[in-house]
Amino acid sequence: MLSSIVIHRWRFCVNNEKGINRASKTIHRSQEWAGCFVPTLSFGFRQMTPIPNVNIASSEFKTNPFPFYARLRSEAPVYRTILPDKRNAWLITRYQDAVVLLKDDRFRKDRTKSHKQPWMPRMFKPLMRNMLDLDAPDHTRLRGLVHTVFTPRLIESLRQRVQNLTDELLNHLQNQRQMDLIRDYALQIPTTIIAEMLGIPVKDRLKFHRWSSAGVSSSASRFGILKAIPHIVALIRYIRSLVKARRLKPEDDLISALVRVEEAGDQLSEDELLAMIVLLLVAGHETTVNLIGNGALALLENPNQLSRLRDDPTLIKSGIEELLRHSGPLETTTERYPREDTSIAGVLIPRGELVFAVLASANRDDQQFKDADRLDLGREPNPHIAFGQGVHYCLGAPLARLEGQIAISTLLRRMSGLKLAIPPRGLRWRRGLVPRGLEALPVEFSRCS
Ligand code: HEM
Repeated sequence: MLSSIVIHRWRFCVNNEKGINRASKTIHRSQEWAGCFVPTLSFGFRQMTPIPNVNIASSEFKTNPFPFYARLRSEAPVYRTILPDKRNAWLITRYQDAVVLLKDDRFRKDRTKSHKQPWMPRMFKPLMRNMLDLDAPDHTRLRGLVHTVFTPRLIESLRQRVQNLTDELLNHLQNQRQMDLIRDYALQIPTTIIAEMLGIPVKDRLKFHRWSSAGVSSSASRFGILKAIPHIVALIRYIRSLVKARRLKPEDDLISALVRVEEAGDQLSEDELLAMIVLLLVAGHETTVNLIGNGALALLENPNQLSRLRDDPTLIKSGIEELLRHSGPLETTTERYPREDTSIAGVLIPRGELVFAVLASANRDDQQFKDADRLDLGREPNPHIAFGQGVHYCLGAPLARLEGQIAISTLLRRMSGLKLAIPPRGLRWRRGLVPRGLEALPVEFSRCS
């Protein structure tokens, strides 16, 4: 995911072209102008209030993006924007359309095959050889090398380790009455577990988080990318040094296993080895920290649901699914590119342009979920798409679920009187297009047993 993060597609200002976004049934039919006039019921066209220019990667927008997406779903569900580097990008906001997009082979992931290639610093190119940025057959080959490590059965064997880690974190808080739930809790769990799986020294976890988060949350502009470069370079250098060490002295960890595959022949190139480790490291923690952080905030803002979960801990499984749907860690998927001019919901998207499924919108689509804005920890069925759909469906979903379930249930079991330590308007959200997560979540509690 890091090349996705680093290479500016995850964060940019989004502007309507010339400040106007329009949609029209007729125009949809003619497939010429996506999103150009809002449809009237039967009398041709009615010009509507233009959809305002917003920067959907900004911290302010992330505070509450849902009304904006509700408007897009109703007025311009396939919405064209212009990125700061002047390329068009399309936001797919309805559930059904997002599912179609993510399963549709007419859209490719590999940007190097797109005729409109974005600018990117040369030293990042090896990172693009990761499965999330590739199509079959390379994607299939790379995913096949690691998918067995993330099966629900193998991940289940980590349960006790995750539980012990979570308990240790709370033990350290026993004499305190407040904490930053992100820094002191949510971040520690996924960074430690993925570091242990890969064989990265756990003491370095804040260092690698700092580097990766500089990429994930950097600003939209080229200047922002330039500022992130030293951090990414440091991360690449760090991973290369670990690979070198494992070549000399293999251990019982995932990096050593991947090094063996690379050395064995034509299954994994050196760039792919680097890209795989960086993807697993970044995807393995940047998202789950947001699941725990956003999830805790959603519960604090919905005290009736918080009490419901405290009273009935067996709700944790459906509860985590609902938190993924309602306050998911990723606002959008990573990008796709149509191989040819292709239409979605009757709107023509030109070949090679950037397309994003907006998960935060699809998962709040009233056409799919009853009372979609309401948090209901017992919601059944709950076919949310927080982990994506299709061949790029999240490889780490079983691990994320395990960590999320243990983190939230242990927090509620051991902490009483949990509440926000600052007014909600004081919370700051991290910048960046793809992720949605808090910079910090200061909380108070009366007791940690
Ligand atoms: C709550 C936490 C998580 C969420 C919401 C999440 C979400 C997603 C989504 C939406 C995708 C697909 C992106 C796209 O199609 O553009 C994805 C892919 C991926 N995720 Fe996760 N993820 C989470 C945790 C993890 C963890 C813990 C790992 C562990 C290593 C992980 C590894 C991956 C990988 C390797 C891919 C690429 C799969 C492929 O291309 O075939 N994720 N994730």
